[in-house]
Amino acid sequence: MKLLVFAGSTRQHSWNRKLAAVTASMARASGAQVTHIELADFDVPLYNADLEARGTPPDVMRLKQLGHEHPAWIICTPEYNASYPALLKNTLDWISSPVTSDPVWNDDFRATRGKVVGVLSASPGALGGLRSQSHLVPLLLNLHFWVAPTNYALGRAADAFDAQGQLVADASRHKVQAVIDQVLWAADRLA
Ligand code: FNR
Repeated sequence: MKLLVFAGSTRQHSWNRKLAAVTASMARASGAQVTHIELADFDVPLYNADLEARGTPPDVMRLKQLGHEHPAWIICTPEYNASYPALLKNTLDWISSPVTSDPVWNDDFRATRGKVVGVLSASPGALGGLRSQSHLVPLLLNLHFWVAPTNYALGRAADAFDAQGQLVADASRHKVQAVIDQVLWAADRLA
């Protein structure tokens, strides 16, 4: 199963980037064919329809293609003001916007429709960014994802990783594994 993993943060020492890296490596160990991307590697401007009318940026096309090629996704989201960050909204808005000049991509949800997505979050706070998920999930449903009902919010993230970036607690690893297992299972069933 092809699984796309990314975090909604580009911060150097981001907890969500660490969580995405752990998730990618655990999913590989579970037999998935994992593509772990960093949003910092994609040159994606703030969405503006005037800009889009001049041509969809090449890195947005790369993201659309990646989305389309992966039946399973896992997103690790930070929590900003009890919601998810603008970086994620901007990325998903671009990915879901039709390319009206291109018959293949002239479809709002080609990159996201029918994909299975698992949602993780991490925060230094006790709730682990859980409130970000309550906003992100409706957005994902609107993009026609199948959202895995098993999720995980990693609280006290500053204490959760060792120096090698591994999760310290067995309980945290089990929770992440449960999300991976469910996403891979559901994507396999839908395929
Ligand atoms: C935050 N942070 C935060 N944390 C939280 O648990 N609940 C919240 O509502 C907020 N709100 C918030 C707003 C803004 C504007 C910022 C910049 C930050 C803290 C946030 O969880 C923390 O900075 C994380 O470390 C961000 O995730 P990454 O970059 O570590 O993945």
